[in-house]
Amino acid sequence: MLVSAKEMLQKAKAGKYAVGQFNINNLEWTKAILQTAQECNSPVILGVSEGAGKYMTGYKTVVGMVKGMIEEMNITVPVALHLDHGSYEHAKKVIEAGFSSVMFDGSHYAIDENIEKTKEIIALANEKGISVEAEVGSIGGEEDGVVGAGEVADVAECKMIADLGVDMLAAGIGNIHGKYPENWAGLNFDVLAEISKATDPMPLVLHGGTGIPEDMIKKAISLGVSKINVNTECQLSFAAATRKYVEAGKDLEGKGFDPRKLLAPGAEAIKATVKEKMELFGSVNKA
Ligand code: 13P
Repeated sequence: MLVSAKEMLQKAKAGKYAVGQFNINNLEWTKAILQTAQECNSPVILGVSEGAGKYMTGYKTVVGMVKGMIEEMNITVPVALHLDHGSYEHAKKVIEAGFSSVMFDGSHYAIDENIEKTKEIIALANEKGISVEAEVGSIGGEEDGVVGAGEVADVAECKMIADLGVDMLAAGIGNIHGKYPENWAGLNFDVLAEISKATDPMPLVLHGGTGIPEDMIKKAISLGVSKINVNTECQLSFAAATRKYVEAGKDLEGKGFDPRKLLAPGAEAIKATVKEKMELFGSVNKA
């Protein structure tokens, strides 16, 4: 079922668990994540970055593929199709193309401009029942070639954006995209607690889910995080399994070069990673 992320995240916040956003890149990724969500009876959010949307030839293709799979695979758990770190222009594009959820990332604008643009996106999304994620304090690391510094969000700014009527709020608390460096200071739980208190009952979003230790994930959920984004970890699992297959010479045995065989271990690896995260986040059997 393709739905907005609003209700699933309100339920997650009330139930003290988090729904995973797993980013998709192609058919194998989407199929593996949907299969796992159904097997785990878990709600799920499919994240699409602007780069991944372009790679898949455009947002209409993505909507067609996801809707088709939900029907053909009999997916009954709630699925949200969400633009990840959308610019103002692309947020509008996915609202037109049929996404059920959108992130407008105005964190690099001054707060007044972030507020104005977020408001406009909320108005457009609301007309169609589409959920909106906003961001305060940019998330560090590199995503689609954009490198952020890993800021810690300002609590008063978080409150201002939350009050606009967004459905979920991403606030930087020292988290970064991609692998964490050896000397990473960890998540700033003091700030998370303050943001949570100021914006309650707003579901909070934790970006950069790859490589955050389990105890920190659990603590973040206990402090109001209801959505956790995971991207790099599925890519690493997929690449390692594919490497193993090729290095074992399996592509040279019989019809091992058939893409449906060549890509199968990678897809299974994505499924295992997604399942592990759903168990850790507590979303299993919460569909
Ligand atoms: P990772 O790639 O670090 O898991 O981050 C994903 C993310 O936050 C997407 O917005």
